[in-house]
Amino acid sequence: IPHTKPLGFAGFVWTASRNPIEIWGSRAFKEPWLRANWLSVPTIIVNDPKAIRALLVDNARNYAMQPLRQRVLRPMLRDGLLTAEGELWKRTRKSLAPVFTPRNIHALAPAMAERSRLFAEGLESLPDGRADIAFQMTLLTYDILQATLFSNDITGEPKEFAEAMELFLKRMGRVDPLDILDAPAFLPRIGRLLGQRSTNYFRGVIAGTMERRRRLMETDPQAAPNDFLTMLLKAEGLSASEIEDNIITFIGAGHETTARALGWTLYLLSQAPEEREKVEAEIDALLPGLPDPATWLDSLHHTRAAFEEAMRLYPPAPSLNRTALEADRVGDMDIPAGASVLVMPWLVHRHELLWENPLDFVPSRFLPGNRESIDRFQYLPFGVGPRVCIGSSFAMQEGVIALALLMRRLRFDYVGEKPPYPVQKITVQPRGGLPMRVSRR
Ligand code: HEM
Repeated sequence: IPHTKPLGFAGFVWTASRNPIEIWGSRAFKEPWLRANWLSVPTIIVNDPKAIRALLVDNARNYAMQPLRQRVLRPMLRDGLLTAEGELWKRTRKSLAPVFTPRNIHALAPAMAERSRLFAEGLESLPDGRADIAFQMTLLTYDILQATLFSNDITGEPKEFAEAMELFLKRMGRVDPLDILDAPAFLPRIGRLLGQRSTNYFRGVIAGTMERRRRLMETDPQAAPNDFLTMLLKAEGLSASEIEDNIITFIGAGHETTARALGWTLYLLSQAPEEREKVEAEIDALLPGLPDPATWLDSLHHTRAAFEEAMRLYPPAPSLNRTALEADRVGDMDIPAGASVLVMPWLVHRHELLWENPLDFVPSRFLPGNRESIDRFQYLPFGVGPRVCIGSSFAMQEGVIALALLMRRLRFDYVGEKPPYPVQKITVQPRGGLPMRVSRR
């Protein structure tokens, strides 16, 4: 993707609004850091792991979430963790931490496996054996999320609900020009207005589910399933509307990302038959029947490594954007107050000084024995520092389980005419999807 000729101002604006990962020239994959002036804002792009640590961990307080992201996402995610700041963020993170403990996440493994097994069965009976696997993975990860959040107790007309969801996610990925210009809030954002009815519907359904669960917990606590919703309703320090905002946030942040990672993994494995065989052999050895995931989850080393390597090449969240509150100096970088500071997994994960053959798909980098030599700050699919992804172990567990259950029975072969082209729309997604042939192994 790196271009070799300078883009010029118009080319830059056009490319940045259509597919931001195309703006990077080859220098961005070679230099420890770069400085630019974008729309008169000093912008610093940081690739050096030591500097990333200094910015996002050691002096994290000085680097706030970018106002644009907040303007775009806050009307939808309101007081959820992703868009909360200051004291609200601190209190929310503290209340949610006990929900995301390893023990709780492990307890969700059987539900993840069951939904993946059912999904694989559905894929086996595709009428012509072909499907857009990018879209299919969105369906699967949404299904896993609703099963682990609500234990399938999410009602409403399925079609209406699915449409409302789709609109909600589409709107999440769209930046209104009025938001870029920071126009006053009373000026109507057309996209937002068009999506309002669906979002209200979607929120209404979720509020209904919460209400039913709350009543059940009062009248018959033993009968309440031990899922995310029950855990959230028991969490201390969150109001009902904050719980609702966080459920919406988990849906917004937690299924499209994992879906993209799964889709790219299946695509990359389809292009690397030897790697795919290693994954299949390990799954065949460890999952001959369908024992409890606890017995095999931690032993699927090749499967996990393929998933991690796919997130290196195609990080679902390609960019961590911050604004410097006060001036700072890190190594030889002078960062003025108000500067935009970008740590881009898209660049860091493909950087020539950090990886051998950075553009090759080499899952063995992530096998035990090799993985330990990867610097914590050169591999950032889930970010790093206080705002690191709270759902990372959920997503890793889900990714490995879904791959194991899908690949146990099925083989996925890419049948697109050209290789898939990555486009950044919040997540990095393949333009036009991932057409694949799905066959019984
Ligand atoms: C934050 C990536 C799955 C919920 C983040 C951040 C990244 C990320 C990079 C940090 C953003 C920043 O620092 O600017 C991913 C990827 C996923 C994934 C690649 C899947 C492969 C999930 C899941 C959930 C989730 C499954 C919830 C169930 C969140 C939340 C935050 C977050 C709530 C905000 C944390 C905070 O600000 O304190 N995610 N995520 N994510 N993620 Fe994830």
